[in-house]
Formats: sequence, structure tokens, C-alpha cells
Amino acid sequence: MAKKSGTGDVHGHFSTVAGVYRDVRTTDEEPIRVIRGALAGRAAIRGADIGCGAGRYDYLLFRHLPDLHLTCIDMNPEMLAELSRHLRGNGIENFETLVASVEDLQLIDQSLDCIFSFNAVHHFDFPTFLNKIGGTMKKDGRTFVYTRTPGQNSRSIWGKHFPDFCEKERRLFKLETMKRWIDATERLTLIDARTFRYPRTASLRRLLEQARSKHYSTFSLYRPGEFDAACETFADNIRRHFDDPMKVEWHDENILLQMAPDDDRKSRTR
Ligand SMILES: C[S@@+](CC[C@H](N)C(=O)[O-])C[C@H]1O[C@@H](n2cnc3c(N)ncnc32)[C@H](O)[C@@H]1O
Repeated sequence: MAKKSGTGDVHGHFSTVAGVYRDVRTTDEEPIRVIRGALAGRAAIRGADIGCGAGRYDYLLFRHLPDLHLTCIDMNPEMLAELSRHLRGNGIENFETLVASVEDLQLIDQSLDCIFSFNAVHHFDFPTFLNKIGGTMKKDGRTFVYTRTPGQNSRSIWGKHFPDFCEKERRLFKLETMKRWIDATERLTLIDARTFRYPRTASLRRLLEQARSKHYSTFSLYRPGEFDAACETFADNIRRHFDDPMKVEWHDENILLQMAPDDDRKSRTR
């Protein structure tokens, strides 16, 4: 069963990192290019980004989809304040923010051309999310969910070399599980599941800086002493596995799910 993030530790974590979040995460443009392609030819797109955080992907969406109007939704007001500063600071006004958790969200039926969620669904009750958005998209609407699977997580630099990273991170969903939940809504159909593999290079120093900033919320699941010891072991592991700690190379992987309303099935089951 999917887990609810609740408002405890995870909420506190995102409040703490809101001010630095865009700087410590790596933002990729490739999924936004795929989204732009999928929405090509549409004018005046009305969308919502759920679990939008500090708005790094919303900024890219606005750059690639000039006719977009976006409702940026997050349960964390600090994240939304950062998002507003960031978008307005870049001259973007075509958005509003909404403080709400997925579980409490009320959206108007058939009101949106597209719904986005980047790096957030593992914090939600995913079936609840799917049921809420099922009726919210217009007939030709699209939902894009960008996330990483447990397998992709395990192949990252953190999964391979940071002690207990995969054991601590139990929230991510397998593709098969997400497919099953999508199917169970009886309102949505999965039309594409695209994987991305990004070559990365960073110094050990930068990697430790990111971990200590808790750029992945996984790091907030360690106890303080345990986290410091894990950072030391990680540094040893990197020095052992890579010739040059100034130039650590690995691949990050993600997946982009594209869904549409399953109107055929609705009429078949009537
Ligand atoms: C890992 S961050 C990703 C933020 C942003 N989408 C990005 O990629 O930069 C996850 C976000 O989801 C939000 N979040 C977590 N649980 C939530 C829930 N149940 N309802 C709404 N937002 C939630 C957090 O506050 C946080 O801003």
C-alpha cells in the first residue's frame, strides 16, 4: 500500500531545505523537452504542478511552454514562497500558488490540460493522487509524473556508495506497482514510460556538500551520528573506487510517465 508522507519529519525537512533546494539539486531539461513535444500544437495550456517545491521545474516549463498558466501546489508554504520569488524574479507572473496536501486537494473536474509532478509522488499516497487527477484532466488532457524507481536509485552514486542509502529510502515505487495503481483507477491510461540516463561528474567535495545539505530527503532519515559516520564511509568508498576525487563520474536515472484519461474504458464499463 502507498504511504502518506504526513506532516511530520518530511514537512520539517522541506521547510529546512527550501532556501537552498534549487542550488543543491541537479535540474534536467530533457524531460521538459519531451513534455513540450507531447503538448505541441496546444494553445493556452492550463496546468497544475503538484508537489512543486521551490519551482525549478516550473521555471523550465514556462520557458518551454510560453502559453502556460500554472497552479503550483505544495503542502509546504516555505517552498511555495521560494517558488514565487524565483518565478517573479524571472519575470513570470502567469501562475498562482496553493498550499494543500494531495490528500486534501480539491480540484475542479475536467478543468486542466495537464498535470505535472516532479520528484514528489513517493511522498504522496500515490493511488489517492491518481484518483484525484483522474477526473480533473480535460478529455484530451495529459499527466506527467517524473520520478525514480528503487532500481534507478540503487544505481546512483548514493545507492552504490553511501551506506544504507537504499535501505533507508523505502518510499520509491517500482514501475510495475505504479502501472498497477494507474490501471486500478479505471480512469487513466499509461501512454508512455520513458527512462532517462544522465552522465554526471562532480568532485567528492561537492557530493559531500550536497549530502550535508540533505538534497535528497533520504538523508534526513539518518540519525545525526549515523549520518556523519555514513558521510565518512562514503568519502572512503569514493576515494577507493575513483582515481580522481575531483572528478567522480556516474549516471543518474529517472523515469517520466505520461498518462491520459481512459474515456474508452469509462464508456465500455458503463
Ligand atoms: C522532493 S521535493 C520535489 C519538489 C519539486 N517538484 C522539484 O522537483 O524540485 C517534494 C515536494 O513535495 C511536497 N510534498 C510532500 N508531500 C506532499 C503531499 N502529501 N502533498 C503535497 N505536497 C507534498 C514537499 O513539500 C516538497 O516540496
